[in-house]
Amino acid sequence: MTMEKFRLDGRVALVTGGNRGIGLAIAELFLEAGARCLVTARVETPALARLLATHPETAAWHGADVTDPAAPAAMVGAAVARFGRLDVLVNNAGVADNGDFHDFDDARLARIMDTNLVAPFRIARAAVPVMLAQGGGAIVNIGSISGEVANRPQFQVAYNASKAAVHQMTRVMAFEYAGRGIRVNAVAPGYVVSDMTAGGIANPEWNRVWTGNTPMGRLARPEEMATCALFLASDAASYVTGAVLVADGGYTTH
Ligand SMILES: NC(=O)c1ccc[n+]([C@@H]2O[C@H](COP(=O)([O-])OP(=O)(O)OC[C@H]3O[C@@H](n4cnc5c(N)ncnc54)[C@H](O)[C@@H]3O)[C@@H](O)[C@H]2O)c1
Repeated sequence: MTMEKFRLDGRVALVTGGNRGIGLAIAELFLEAGARCLVTARVETPALARLLATHPETAAWHGADVTDPAAPAAMVGAAVARFGRLDVLVNNAGVADNGDFHDFDDARLARIMDTNLVAPFRIARAAVPVMLAQGGGAIVNIGSISGEVANRPQFQVAYNASKAAVHQMTRVMAFEYAGRGIRVNAVAPGYVVSDMTAGGIANPEWNRVWTGNTPMGRLARPEEMATCALFLASDAASYVTGAVLVADGGYTTH
């Protein structure tokens, strides 16, 4: 019986940025765990098309740019229209940008903040009333170790600030809704093999620093973040709220 708490049978989940990488791995695992899943992304990739074809009844795609102010209401509405409810929101879509602090002009700063912080805020704001009306729900924000420590060797201050804000939004929302059935948690990945890190992995110096500073001696696979998100989304985490679950191979231990 206890192991069933790790499943999502009967639940409806919305996963942003689910056409590749960590978001796709989360959608795949949630479907395997019994959820129905609305995946949002700007484009339907071949990998997402395969996922939809494999789960024609339980997976659906909604095209959306998360920085569009109209997108949050539209994607929450699409989840409810397709599957009748919304139990789990995963704010996964995000972008990174590297460079010196003094070179981050307003456009670069706005792109990072609008995608990584403002969009999750707005999407959660659209989802919460639905969850309150249903009597509860779970929100999982994908933060980063970049919200806790400075990155090396690359500088990416706007990204770090955006993810630190996501962690604090997570804690404050958790406090605010703890008595109203909505749990709010974050996953803080270390370095994960994905399109976001492909350039750094291909750079021998960056790869050496990233791997060398990770006590486990390797980068993570997206699936290793999906299991963390599943735990936080599921009833297995029924007493967990306001947590930032660091999954970094030990990167932040030293
Ligand atoms: N890869 C890592 O090492 C790592 C580490 C810590 C945190 N993260 C976080 O994990 C999350 C997923 O990243 P990933 O590693 O899978 O990278 P990725 O680049 O493969 O995926 C990012 C996803 O976000 C989507 N996205 C970006 N901007 C969007 C927009 N405006 N509208 C809609 N979708 C948009 C992309 O299309 C893609 O689906 C991000 O929030 C990222 O910051 C990644």
